[in-house]
Amino acid sequence: MPRSIIAGIGMYVPEHVFTNNDLTKYMDTSDEWIQERTGIKERRFAHRTQETTATMGIEAAKIAIERAGIMPQDIDFIVFATLSPDYYFPGCGVIVQRELNMPEIGALDVRNQCSGFVYALSVADQFIRSGTYKNILVIGSEKHSFGLDFNTRSRNVSVIFGDGAGAIVLQPTEDENRGICSTHLHSDGRSAEMLAMYNPGTHANHWQEGLADFDDAEIGDMFESHAMIDKVQNHPFMDGPEVFKKAVVKFPEVIMEALDKNGYAPQDIKLLIPHQANLRISQFVQQKLKLDDGQVYNNIQKYGNTTAASIPIALCEAWQEGKIQKGDLVCLAAFGSGFTWASALLKW
Ligand code: ACO
Repeated sequence: MPRSIIAGIGMYVPEHVFTNNDLTKYMDTSDEWIQERTGIKERRFAHRTQETTATMGIEAAKIAIERAGIMPQDIDFIVFATLSPDYYFPGCGVIVQRELNMPEIGALDVRNQCSGFVYALSVADQFIRSGTYKNILVIGSEKHSFGLDFNTRSRNVSVIFGDGAGAIVLQPTEDENRGICSTHLHSDGRSAEMLAMYNPGTHANHWQEGLADFDDAEIGDMFESHAMIDKVQNHPFMDGPEVFKKAVVKFPEVIMEALDKNGYAPQDIKLLIPHQANLRISQFVQQKLKLDDGQVYNNIQKYGNTTAASIPIALCEAWQEGKIQKGDLVCLAAFGSGFTWASALLKW
């Protein structure tokens, strides 16, 4: 059975830098508070109308495809991970297929938020191992700046997120010393409401009272209402302390699961690329696994939390900086909304 290797990688971040001080023009916060709690100094925000989640994904994909030495028409499957799609439906994958003039290949969108890229990678890995596809494009992209509430009432969430995209091309290899060793996916839906955007949705307060004020029409007209907007029920909600508590347990657990499965120990990791949730979470995980500073890559300081895009952006940047060489053991790990968490262990 072949293994999957990353044959090309690319990233795209918007030009527009938005600093913590820029945020203070919209909400009561401070550079000091944000840096102390999250490590974030600045993030990128997409152009309001000229950049979308799909366009940023496409820009990252073009670089990954070129670096893989193939043409867009050689891609035989697309997996697109995002929580901020251009449309509620269809997903962004089909826009990539259209804009890159690809043949009528399959395009799958993955809805696993911060774990989205690792989930997407795992799906792609199965298709490569089974011999179904030979050039899979995996993208993680987010345009958070469009959906956040830039008012003091939502400051615990809005200061964290940024826009950007990363992409890889996954191909088969017969080389047993390279490629994805294993992927590990988990979820715990008991915490689904702790980090979520409830509306628009069809829940109608079925799972929890008070998540939405919807119209009392018998049918239809219940997706969005003025009351919902007035009560800020159409923006992301996060119970920050609960996310922190669970993340610092599940990150190390899923990293150890990947290492154990393949007979490695934390000291064997050349580079851990954690989902860039919050620098404090990454530091906690580093400490727990007794990893050196050089073994953990962080760039949340520059880009904020870009959710499904954070791992491919960090992986791409680490590779561009020469921090990953052929044969190095690289671990990708994520935790986020759902809750879901996941890891992938690979030999570069
Ligand atoms: N600026 C200034 N003050 C703020 C801000 C802000 N941006 N946000 C919250 N505060 C204030 C609150 O109003 C509150 O004030 P009060 O005590 O007077 O009421 C105080 O700071 C503490 O508020 P909390 O919401 O409890 O903030 P906390 O100390 O927990 O820090 C944070 C918030 C940084 C989000 C923290 O909970 C955390 O690190 N959580 C981990 C979750 C995370 O990082 N998620 C990332 C996205 S999800 C993911 O990728 C997995």
